[in-house]
Amino acid sequence: MIIEPKVKGFICITAHPEGCKENVKQQIQYTKQQGEMQGPKKVLVIGASTGYGLASRITAAFGCDADTLGVMFEKESNGKRTATPGWYNTKAFEEFAKEDGLYAKSINGDAFSQEIKEKVIETIKTDLGSIDMVIYSLAAPRRTVADGTTYNSVLKTVEKDFTNKSWNLSNNLIGEATIPPATREEVEATVKVMGGEDWADWMDALSEAGVLSEQVITMAYSYIGPELTYPVYRDGTIGMAKKHLLQSANEINARLGEKGVQAYISVNKALVTQASSAIPIVPLYFAVLYKVMKEKDLHEGCIEQMNRLFHEKLLVSGKVETDSEGRIRMDDWELQEDVQRETMDIWDQINSENILKIADVEGYWEDFYHMFGFHFDNVDYNAEVEI
Ligand code: NAI
Repeated sequence: MIIEPKVKGFICITAHPEGCKENVKQQIQYTKQQGEMQGPKKVLVIGASTGYGLASRITAAFGCDADTLGVMFEKESNGKRTATPGWYNTKAFEEFAKEDGLYAKSINGDAFSQEIKEKVIETIKTDLGSIDMVIYSLAAPRRTVADGTTYNSVLKTVEKDFTNKSWNLSNNLIGEATIPPATREEVEATVKVMGGEDWADWMDALSEAGVLSEQVITMAYSYIGPELTYPVYRDGTIGMAKKHLLQSANEINARLGEKGVQAYISVNKALVTQASSAIPIVPLYFAVLYKVMKEKDLHEGCIEQMNRLFHEKLLVSGKVETDSEGRIRMDDWELQEDVQRETMDIWDQINSENILKIADVEGYWEDFYHMFGFHFDNVDYNAEVEI
């Protein structure tokens, strides 16, 4: 089959197997160039197939020589439609890991479920014995809990309407978007899905099953961002979930600290991923931020972020570098005073006429297409491929 990108709104409904493989390969190459480091040796990554989770898995495997077990929720091809990018990424990752003599197994299923937790525990017992790092990088639209109730997360404000500039991705026109406030039930549902309850459940289950090493680091990822996006992010429904995630880190430390578990939140940079491109108003901020950070030579993608996290914040002589609230700050460059000042200056001026000049529209789309395995120079998109 010859596969072309089919973009619908903020998503592409096709993925290219060879392009996804190239994406993984480039991330591995980058990681190897940063050099080896002493780090975890047996790592569980929950949400391991795309975005920050995939980059974390690659960094652990190819930077620390770690065996990795990944959990993801991806669709295989049915012969007519392509698989999801995360499915191809995972297949490619496993191939590259095996070539380098690294253990790499992946479990495709709902990480929120008891069944997948049990499957992971069994696999650790059989194959690895124990694990010394757990990365929790889920971005999910919904969660079904043990009693069968399904909660859907929403991306809304919490108190009142929020109106700001918004970018119509299909015609590059800048208009306005208004994000309405969520109901109390919607806020609670978003916290259920994207908060830390399931992360804590995972850590309790792993601890009770006796599959955690004597010293374990566990991390979940969060975002804060600039004041501009506070109403929809930090103070919005997703922000409430992220507050709960931080609370969960404290609870995990209180409950399992004595057993050698250290839980951290890493606050990462804003990047185009499948999860983040769905948030209204945010894509335009990305395009402006990319422009400013690239000009200052401060721009990073997921793999650069995760390598810097491991090399400079996590594994510095056994001490983890955090802020006063115990969070690892990978958003330090994004929130740098000059970066934000220049980003906001552009934000104030931006309109449909000047967007192509003063924002990094091309860079946004490059990241977008790369996520689905398209627009890589050395992939032959005219060639027939097995899906
Ligand atoms: P992503 O959409 O690229 O990755 C999500 C991962 O979760 C995928 O591996 C997917 O298969 C997996 N997943 C989703 N539902 C699942 C389920 N029910 N069971 C098993 N696996 C499931 O998302 P991204 O952006 O990498 O986000 C990961 C974390 O990083 C999230 O907590 C997000 O809030 C956070 N973050 C993202 C930022 C961004 O700008 N993209 C910035 C800072 C933090």
